[in-house]
This record gives sequence, C-alpha cells and structure tokens, in this order.
Amino acid sequence: MRPIDIIEMPNLDEARIRNKPVETFHYDYVPNDKLLAYLKGKNYFIRTYGCQANIRDGEYLSGLLESVGMHRVESEKEADLAIINTCAVRENAEEKVYGQIGDFKKLKEKNKDIILILCGCMVEQNHIIDQVSKTFPYVDIFFGTHNIKDLMMLLEKYISNHHRIIYVSSKEGEIVEELPSCRSEKFKAFVNISYGCDKFCTYCIVPYTRGKERSRDINDILKECKDLVNKGYQEITLLGQNVDSYGKDLNNGVTFATLLESVAKLGIPRLRFLTSYPSDFKDEVIDVISRYPNIMKYIHLPIQAGNDTVLKQMGRRYSSGEYLALVKRIKDKIPNIALSTDIIVGFPNETYEQFLDTIKVAKEVGYLSAFTFIYSPRVGTPAARIKDNVPYLEKVKRFKELVKELEIGFDEKAQEMVGKTYSVLVESISKKDETMLTGYTESLKTVNFKGDISLIGKIVNVKILENHLYSLLGELVNE
Ligand code: SAH
Ligand code: SF4
Ligand code: F3S
Repeated sequence: MRPIDIIEMPNLDEARIRNKPVETFHYDYVPNDKLLAYLKGKNYFIRTYGCQANIRDGEYLSGLLESVGMHRVESEKEADLAIINTCAVRENAEEKVYGQIGDFKKLKEKNKDIILILCGCMVEQNHIIDQVSKTFPYVDIFFGTHNIKDLMMLLEKYISNHHRIIYVSSKEGEIVEELPSCRSEKFKAFVNISYGCDKFCTYCIVPYTRGKERSRDINDILKECKDLVNKGYQEITLLGQNVDSYGKDLNNGVTFATLLESVAKLGIPRLRFLTSYPSDFKDEVIDVISRYPNIMKYIHLPIQAGNDTVLKQMGRRYSSGEYLALVKRIKDKIPNIALSTDIIVGFPNETYEQFLDTIKVAKEVGYLSAFTFIYSPRVGTPAARIKDNVPYLEKVKRFKELVKELEIGFDEKAQEMVGKTYSVLVESISKKDETMLTGYTESLKTVNFKGDISLIGKIVNVKILENHLYSLLGELVNE
C-alpha cells in the first residue's frame, strides 16, 4: 500500500456552518521548475459530470494545466494525467463516476506513471472519500471543490514522493479571481456570478459540497463578460445556484437586476442566467428582461413540487400559489416568455394526491421543457433521515406518469412554433445526420436544419417546418 498524505478530509457537519466573512484571492501561484519540466508537453484528459458550475470548474482545471504547457486529449488512453470532475446531486450521477473510475485501473496497469485524479462534489462527502480512497487504490490525488486553486501545489507534492494525497476542504469558501481558464466552447460561455448556496433545501447536497453563497464583485464579472464580447462570443449564461440572491452578501446595493442590466449593455447578442429561485425572483428582473432584446425570453424556474405540504417539507420557501402568481407577473410583462423547470418526484412520504398537485400546477404554468428527477436520498441531508413509505417502483410509476403529462404540454408548445421563424444559435453538425446543422432557439429548443458548416457559431433565422417533440426541423431563412 502506498502512503496517503491527508492534508484535509471532508466533513459534512462543518460544511453546513455559515459564519465567516468571504475573502477574495487573486491567483498567482508559480509552480516550481521541477513540476514545470515534468508536465510540459504532456497530455491531460478531463471528464466533467454535473451542472454548469462543475463544467466551469473543469474549464479552470484545463486552464491551470494548459498554463504549464499541457495539451488536452479526448481519449484517456493517450493521457499522462487524467481527471474525473464529479457530481453528487443524485445517485445515478455517482454511479456514472464509479464506472469511469473502474476504467482508471486499466490505465494505471498500462502506464504506472499516469497521474489519476478525482475531484468535484462527490469527494466532498466523508463517507464517499472513505470508501473510494480504499476501493480504488490507484487513484493518486483527491481534491474538493474548494481546492481547485491548489492543483499545482498538489502536483508538486505528488511528483516529489508519489504518495497519494487527499485535500478536501469543507470550508465555507472563498472567491478566487484570475485563475487561468480554458473555455471548452468558442461562441457560448458560462460566467459565474456567485458560488455556493445557502438555501439548504432538505433533499439537496449542493450547499454542503459547494459551501456558502458568495457573490463575485460586479467589476470582475463585467471584465470577464467584456472580454468574451471582444472575443466574438455570441452567448453568455450567468451562473449561480440562486442568481436572484446575487449581491446580498456584498452590501453595496448591487442586485441581480442591476448586474443583469449592466451585462446586457455590453452588447452580447444572447444573455441568459441560471438558476432562479422563485421566492427570491424580483419584479425588477422581469422589468430588465422585458427591456433588453438581447436577454433571452426564457426563464428556468424550478418548482420541484406543486403541493404546499411537500414544498414545505422540501424546505422550499414558497407556496404553489405564490409560484403561480410570479408566473402570472412574468407572463403579463413578457407575453412571449418560455418557462422551464425542475421537478422531483417521490419525495419521502409523498402521497399520490400530492403528486397529482405537481401535474396540475405544471399544466397551469405551461412549461416549454422540464428536467424531471426521482428523489434520491443524499447522506447528510435532512430528507435522507425521513422514514419513507413510498416504494421505489411507485416512484418510477409516478415519474413516467409525470413525463407523459408534461410531454402533452411540450408537444403543444412545440407545435405552436411550426410555421414561425426563430433566431437560432448554430452549435454543430447534427450528431444523427451529417448533412444537417444543429442549433437552439432563445428558449433552448433544439432545431435541425440544412446549412453550411461556416454557420457554426453564428445566429441565423430558421423557419420551423416540423415538430419532433424534443427537437424541431427547420429551414434556413435567407435575409
Ligand atoms: N440551484 C439549482 C440547481 C440545483 S441541482 C436549483 O436550486 O434549482 C438541480 C436539480 O436537481 C434541482 O433543481 C432538483 O430538482 C434536483 N435535485 C437536487 N437534489 C436532488 C435529490 N436529492 N434527488 C433528486 N433530485 C434532486
Ligand atoms: Fe440545492 Fe435548493 Fe440550493 Fe438549489 S436552491 S442548490 S436545490 S439547496
Ligand atoms: Fe452536481 Fe455539484 Fe453541480 S453536486 S449538480 S456538480 S454543484
């Protein structure tokens, strides 16, 4: 057995604490010459699971590795260093990661010098790190979401003695500016506006894995967005687990509405944001969206459940009536708004009648799309301690019923689009048909159409010809 140097172990109890002020650091770590010589010209592989925040973290990890002369490869077989950036939000997210770590074993057998790294939200959980560090002895370095900035220091330590290392902080979290980043897309970009979450919905692990809610300074955000505009980016998505509470911790009068307006003024062709928390969503934001044509007329507004008792047990701080009233205020001001949502089915002890309330409310809202999940207990969260009387198969049945009901609404909405022309950001060649291009509308509907590959990365007008429920078929409109 190789020795393990434990710098810090995660601790879910500590991860709950919120009492320290947030500090901002400017990244300026200079790796030592030995590490620089060791990594220069070598290949790295990275696979990221999970949400946009994790994707952005992956871009920072790539940035750090490329800043020392490493090159990204798409196959782990060609890699000298391989990273899995994990997600812990549901059990199936973790299962995907286990499959991938299993493949790591073969890599190490073929190349004993390869450096294998596990990071992200999963390793922030003490029970996982205990188990994974024992079950997968070939993983060399584990680090948490708060330790991205420490990557070079960890690699220096690792190459000096080849001891395994665990560095998973469970601190409240700081803000690190000026980390090098290597964006995975050339025309659309994620920009963090805040990190962490203080909502502690009873089912959710995110506040533990990501720490306290902390907002970046507006000037740092605007600088990053301005740079993207100058580079010709077409779309920016502002990211926060709860964008609506942006600025609360800064006490400088800057709110999400002011920030959104300031970014819109920079002239990015498409501006969007994720995720909104219903009871924090301010009418000023509705007003800003309605006034700027470059802010997409699309809002992702997770409802989670339509029954008030379940919402209360989930720790969500709104009733279904309040949610519907907000939807009405949004629709009154922005009639062409598209709404999407997240829904959890089978929260502990949810009755069938309570579940039906979710379908009822969802129908009333009329979502264009939705992400639906079966409740997955997360160790350490309050909901995981509730004795649940709903069998898993019953949850699966409800899940299927929900999807079926929602699809009736999605189909109606998509059908309404047929015959109309929409602006589409062209993403790539279609995966299913090489002669087609794929892009998406303001409302994130996928559109396939014939066109030249030179259009990739551009915004074009496409007339919708056919509705295929989750995608649309269209034709290019020549202006
Ligand atoms: N901050 C965002 C995203 C959180 S994670 C928000 O509040 O909406 C994305 C979605 O995963 C959540 O909206 C929720 O629907 C789902 N989710 C989170 N924890 C879950 C769990 N334990 N089981 C099932 N779904 C969960
Ligand atoms: Fe999780 Fe709730 Fe925070 Fe979203 S708002 S990240 S669901 S705790
Ligand atoms: Fe997953 Fe962590 Fe995001 S748990 S959803 S990667 S914040």
